[in-house]
Amino acid sequence: MELIFATHNQHKVDELQQMLKGRVLIQSLTDIDFHEDIEESGKTFDENAYIKAKSISEKINRNVFADDSGLVIEALNGEPGIFSARYAGTGNSLDNIAKVLKKLENEEHRKAYFITVICLIFDGKAHFFEGKVWGNITKEIRGTDGFGYDPIFVPEGYDKTFAEMSADEKNNISHRYLATQQLIEFLS
Ligand code: IMP
Repeated sequence: MELIFATHNQHKVDELQQMLKGRVLIQSLTDIDFHEDIEESGKTFDENAYIKAKSISEKINRNVFADDSGLVIEALNGEPGIFSARYAGTGNSLDNIAKVLKKLENEEHRKAYFITVICLIFDGKAHFFEGKVWGNITKEIRGTDGFGYDPIFVPEGYDKTFAEMSADEKNNISHRYLATQQLIEFLS
């Protein structure tokens, strides 16, 4: 079986291909030479993943899946949410982190979760898979590994931020891993 992953990120494709152990062949948008921009105009993670997967699937007439992820902070009414990548308006993750820490300056309630939603369009029908990891936002940046909001997120049951963990340690508990596991279960 062959599936198209609606991403140009080869790292994401390799990671998933490894987890699937050859049972499914994953091709990226770069592999199939698809370079059109799809606007993520949805109001939720589900909508954005669906819009991406559905529109590409219709254009190329293949089975396609797309993912959408972000950080949801309770005390900020769900921000940065679907705007996680461009929260501070610069696209720079240190600016995004600075904005979060500033907004939470006098806040003791620092509960948050990372979420990944994967939408698979298979024979024209949509299937959704969701992974969530709860934790707390730190008061300062800790650690240098990872990306995005990793240096300010401590998952529940741990005392290290995602950026203080090894890639393996994070990848075994992350929202992306949990959503991907469900996709793999469905495909198997
Ligand atoms: P994407 O949908 O996977 O591109 O993620 C959107 C944005 O959410 C990223 O640009 C990051 O700011 C944030 N994000 C998603 N997953 C993670 C993560 O595992 N660690 C830190 N930040 C993340």
